[in-house]
Amino acid sequence: MGDDDEGYFSRWSNEARSGVPSKASKRYVEECGGCHFPYQPGLLPAQSWEGIMSGLADHFGESAELPNEDAVFIRKYLLDNAAGRVHAGLPNRIMGSQGDRDFSLRITETRFFRHEHNELPQKLVQENPQVRSFSNCDTCHARAMQGSYNEHEIKIPGYGHWDD
Ligand code: HEC
Ligand code: HEC
Repeated sequence: MGDDDEGYFSRWSNEARSGVPSKASKRYVEECGGCHFPYQPGLLPAQSWEGIMSGLADHFGESAELPNEDAVFIRKYLLDNAAGRVHAGLPNRIMGSQGDRDFSLRITETRFFRHEHNELPQKLVQENPQVRSFSNCDTCHARAMQGSYNEHEIKIPGYGHWDD
């Protein structure tokens, strides 16, 4: 498969408010998807991805350093497809709800994320052995790998379908 293979993330569809566009990158999934779900670039703005890529030696307490050639490729992939640079439903909502506030390096600390997940009790997330952390998007969002976060595709392990 080539670096831009469409197989990993489905094509962005304009109607899908809950989706995130992503040109697939096999190299990204391999290098950044080993320890956790390979977050789509449209979930954070360029400044957050810059921060992540320049701090891989101490990445949330772990070393995620890459050979230089891979780091250059992945950095460009993330920046080219970052929220604020691609214009589609979900990235636009993430940018819009942040307003003037700075972004951190975490998707889970964005205002958008907090707002969408604030009803979930610890029992279902941190205390749930099959989830453990909000950072594990694909444990609840069945089609996260395809870039789809639609509320009808959510299934919390040990709890079942989420019915709002
Ligand atoms: C050696 C394991 C490892 C590798 C490789 C790795 N990460 Fe991480 N990453 C982590 C850990 C640990 C966390 C913190 C997870 C948590 O708090 O539950 C994290 C968190 C993150 C977060 C924040 C998620 C949130 O909570 O919103 C982002 C974004 C991220 N990583 C991006 C990347 C990118 C981009 C790459 C590839 C360049 C990468 N990671 C490679 C271990 C890794
Ligand atoms: C513990 C399960 C769980 C985890 C882990 C989780 N989510 Fe969610 N997410 C939910 C639930 C439940 C909702 C729906 C909340 C509501 O509106 O009732 C939701 C809503 C969303 C929405 C809004 C969908 C819409 O239709 O507007 C997005 C986008 C989203 N999550 C992205 C993520 C991302 C990205 C991650 C990982 C960084 C993540 N979620 C991790 C359970 C989870």
